[in-house]
Amino acid sequence: MNDPQSLGDTPTGEFRKQLHELADWIADFRQNLGSLRVAPNDKPGAILAALPAKPPEEGEPFEKILGDVDRVIVPGMVHWSHPMFLGYFGWTTTAPAILGEIITAPLNVNAMTWRTCPAATELETLVVDWIRQWMDLPREFGGVVYDTASVGVMHALAVAREEVTQTILSARQKMQAGEPASRSVRKHGLVGAGAPMFRIYASEQAHSSAEKAAIALGLGEENVQRVPTDPEFRMNASALREMIARDVRDGFKPLAVIATVGTTSTASVDPVHEIARICGENKMWLHIDGAYGAGFAILPENKWLTNGWSKADSIVVNPHKSLFVPLDFSVLYVRDVERLRRVFTLVPEYLRGDTVEALKNYMDYGIQLGRRFRALKAWLIFRSFGREGMAARLRECVRLANLFAEWIKSDDRFELAAPVSMGVVCFRLVGDDERKIDQLNGEIVEKINASGRAYLTQTKLRGRTVMRIGLGNVLTTEDHLRKAWEMICETAEACCRTAS
Ligand SMILES: Cc1ncc(COP(=O)(O)O)c(C=O)c1O
Repeated sequence: MNDPQSLGDTPTGEFRKQLHELADWIADFRQNLGSLRVAPNDKPGAILAALPAKPPEEGEPFEKILGDVDRVIVPGMVHWSHPMFLGYFGWTTTAPAILGEIITAPLNVNAMTWRTCPAATELETLVVDWIRQWMDLPREFGGVVYDTASVGVMHALAVAREEVTQTILSARQKMQAGEPASRSVRKHGLVGAGAPMFRIYASEQAHSSAEKAAIALGLGEENVQRVPTDPEFRMNASALREMIARDVRDGFKPLAVIATVGTTSTASVDPVHEIARICGENKMWLHIDGAYGAGFAILPENKWLTNGWSKADSIVVNPHKSLFVPLDFSVLYVRDVERLRRVFTLVPEYLRGDTVEALKNYMDYGIQLGRRFRALKAWLIFRSFGREGMAARLRECVRLANLFAEWIKSDDRFELAAPVSMGVVCFRLVGDDERKIDQLNGEIVEKINASGRAYLTQTKLRGRTVMRIGLGNVLTTEDHLRKAWEMICETAEACCRTAS
């Protein structure tokens, strides 16, 4: 056994032994996952109470640490990869994904410039272009991998603001002699650039990352205007048009619209084509939030999803939501990705030598300098499944979502709360007393989650509490789904009995 106090790394033989042990641990975990509780039912603080508060003074053996993973960490987790985990968007882990993460670990590079890791840079370019081809995005879209869609939309809006600010100010400059040279938020900050009061529009169903981006960029969260939706939870394009016209009259500068393809609660799809037309007429940036839904465009039968995408300025897709890549892996595409580079490129002297011979230095495409080698895991997964393998798995998740919806429709205790879209089904227990029924819907989800046997989410639609399942986990079969349905029915009966 290696003396943990000696210098250097674990001796090779010992490390090899640990790796084999870990390989077995991972394979066993995967095999037995279905028999674990999906979620713990402990009070906050239980994990902290089970672990020493004091940091270790001396190194500890791997076996002891792995023992604590088994004893405290695994039981203290919500198992997002569990076949009965139906929360959020039906998270998935796959064997190729685990292998991809394992290969990435020992490489541990920093892919900030091409020179600091040519393979990471070029593989990122390749993988991003594969996804572009699968989604049938025009070639003029170039992409960059970030951790999340929230970070993607923030970068997209920063470019939108920079471009509009420069356009407005150079027009003003032409009209007024003596006006300072063309300004830029990038160079002079918001006040120095005399930036106008910008407005951003997103549907009332859009993700809160719109407000987060506005906060981070100093645009103000109240300047994200929520547009009403139609009965199917899609942005109402006429309302959007009116809101923009009113804001122009009131002295605001409409900057961007965020159209969502696969909203967070119901996976509804905004009418991107119509929204694109409005953006064109008003010279506004169109960002498509396809964090969840854009990945489904790899299915030929979902080609309609891509309507209007070619008119977008930016589009975000999270392969970690729907294309089998583990968290985190989000791609922001920008029509002419140089627009993104122009806003964020900044080469400090100590990196200048590293950047001369490169086609692309990904540090130029965002605020992050150090970057993980995320592309490797995606490349391994995409090669292992192929487009057909991924398409077949996505189709199965759509089939299961529709099957579940059929069960809801044929049971008059329940109703669908939104049209089924992709892998998402929103539904609710029905009853006369709206307030009581709201509470019951929430209680059913809480009881099921507390039981550790399955995991659902709840959301609010038009002020009413609804239950929601997301399919997408490759381990979830029809049998699992049927068990979840039985559990929902039994729990609903029990909750109703207690309430009456
Ligand atoms: C539609 C949509 N957009 C954006 C996000 C934010 O994603 P991320 O966690 O990658 O920032 C989510 C998260 O669920 C989402 O549903």
